[in-house]
Amino acid sequence: MTDFIDKQVYLNGKYLPLSEAKVSVLDRGFLFGDGVYEVIPSYAGLFFRLQDHLDRLKASMSRIRLEFDYDLEKWLEILTPLLDKTKDQYIYLQITRGVSSTRDHAFPKNPVPTVFAMCSEILPFAGVETGVKALTIEDSRWEMCDVKATTLLANVLLRQKAIEQGCAEAILHKRGYVTEGAASNLFAIIDGILMTPEKTAEILPGITRQVILELAKKNDFLVSEEIISLEALKTASEIWITSSTREIIPVVELDSEKVGDGKPGPVFHKMNQLFQQYKKTL
Ligand code: PDD
Repeated sequence: MTDFIDKQVYLNGKYLPLSEAKVSVLDRGFLFGDGVYEVIPSYAGLFFRLQDHLDRLKASMSRIRLEFDYDLEKWLEILTPLLDKTKDQYIYLQITRGVSSTRDHAFPKNPVPTVFAMCSEILPFAGVETGVKALTIEDSRWEMCDVKATTLLANVLLRQKAIEQGCAEAILHKRGYVTEGAASNLFAIIDGILMTPEKTAEILPGITRQVILELAKKNDFLVSEEIISLEALKTASEIWITSSTREIIPVVELDSEKVGDGKPGPVFHKMNQLFQQYKKTL
């Protein structure tokens, strides 16, 4: 615990212990959730698809009209000292529209963004071996789910609802179509094809999702990015949820019904093997 609060974090140009990292109560991230973030994995000190994460960060900032620009070199200079090269970790990086003089919804005149980064260990997740249960829930989020915004109240409530029903994730649907998980993207094997919902503003363009699609295409999987109805999802022989911190997790039970034979499936095992091999090539 002491280790945790004493670990060094980055805040607005300085490295300091987590326990001393403070932001103003007038920070717009605190008052309005007016900010964006990234979760960037690093394996044994090497960043995983850093440029892709930074490109998505840039896209998120542009979508919320937050003007801030550091290049790859500058981010490497800031983030690298936070890493422990002996561990698998992830960087949490958050940028808000900064501190205003009063609480006002309108943008401040000359915002000075707040930049915060900390590093945490990626802990093994038992669900990879056993698979997890998931619950389908109506997607109650907004129209800009492609933005990795810190405004996550809907995601929090949806995930919590799933947890309280003994599930690890909420699989969200809108107008009869599935979108993604509360904090993950979604893949399903339907009629032998590896499918994932296409990229729209209704989902976050996940980096893990992108890597899986690349590996699938390279290894001649039948793959398709398309609209998936909730009805079709219920016929899937395999379902996976994917994210930077948990990689690929098989869903073995959906709404209390077994997915396939109720065990992580063969396509999952193959893809997980390819993904683990890919990580070693960083
Ligand atoms: N979340 N969709 C949502 C809504 C997410 O929150 C996440 C990841 C993903 C997967 O994206 P990626 O593969 O780039 O991690 C999809 C992170 C891990 C989080 O909020 O902690």
